[in-house]
Amino acid sequence: MPARTTNGASFFYEEAGKGLPVVLLHGFPLDARIWASQRADLSSKYRVITPELRGFGRSQSQDAFTMESLADDVHALLAEIAALPCVLGGLSMGGYVALEYVKKYPTDLRGLMLIDTRAEGDSPEGKEARGKMAQLAKDKGSSPVAEQMMPKMLAPDAERHRPAVAKELRAIMEASPPATIVNALMAMRDRKDHTANLPSIAVPTLILVGEADAITPPKMAEAMKAGIPKSELVVIRGAGHLSPMEQPEQVNQAIGAFLEGVS
Ligand code: MLT
Repeated sequence: MPARTTNGASFFYEEAGKGLPVVLLHGFPLDARIWASQRADLSSKYRVITPELRGFGRSQSQDAFTMESLADDVHALLAEIAALPCVLGGLSMGGYVALEYVKKYPTDLRGLMLIDTRAEGDSPEGKEARGKMAQLAKDKGSSPVAEQMMPKMLAPDAERHRPAVAKELRAIMEASPPATIVNALMAMRDRKDHTANLPSIAVPTLILVGEADAITPPKMAEAMKAGIPKSELVVIRGAGHLSPMEQPEQVNQAIGAFLEGVS
């Protein structure tokens, strides 16, 4: 896995293929492994890059961050490796970062993919829950956080029907450093609401959502579709919040068709 030092930290990323750069940002508390199937499939036609955000995966760092600073990190890394302009996709927290990126670097973007994510900020109850989860990570580490998140991450019965996906997802979450979990929870709690910014997104945008996504449900995806002028929405059947891992064929097909239009 290559790495580049930029913005005072080392960023690891996976890269495969040639052509239009397609960059996929993972969610919380995850890393680039969630995109294994998309990397394998889309790299026959595109240069697929899956960075690990500050503090996640192998991009180790104790520094606090915001969604905006993560977008700056991504932009600096992509400039370093000559991958601009790109099509940028983000899952959940990765989508929050992508929404910051589109605001700040619109000319370095060819298309946007918002996957199992939302434009709204946290509700007061949501903010309170972030604080409780951060305390859990500080007191007890990553495993109880993974345990608490697992039931909401995948479609119902996924642990029974897709045990390998569930096992891998749990292992990825448990490997996330507690300090990064705390930093990310604070950054997500304090993130901006991007709803008012949606009509100014000028690039073609693909919105994907698992039909059983319990964290960012289809109604949030529909709200983004209503707000973004050149957007299309695809609902992924039989998926929860981690549609790229749960239903890779449907996700790869939707992304492939979208990229054909963009390129
Ligand atoms: C994620 O999957 O990135 C998180 O669940 C997003 C969130 O908690 O808002």
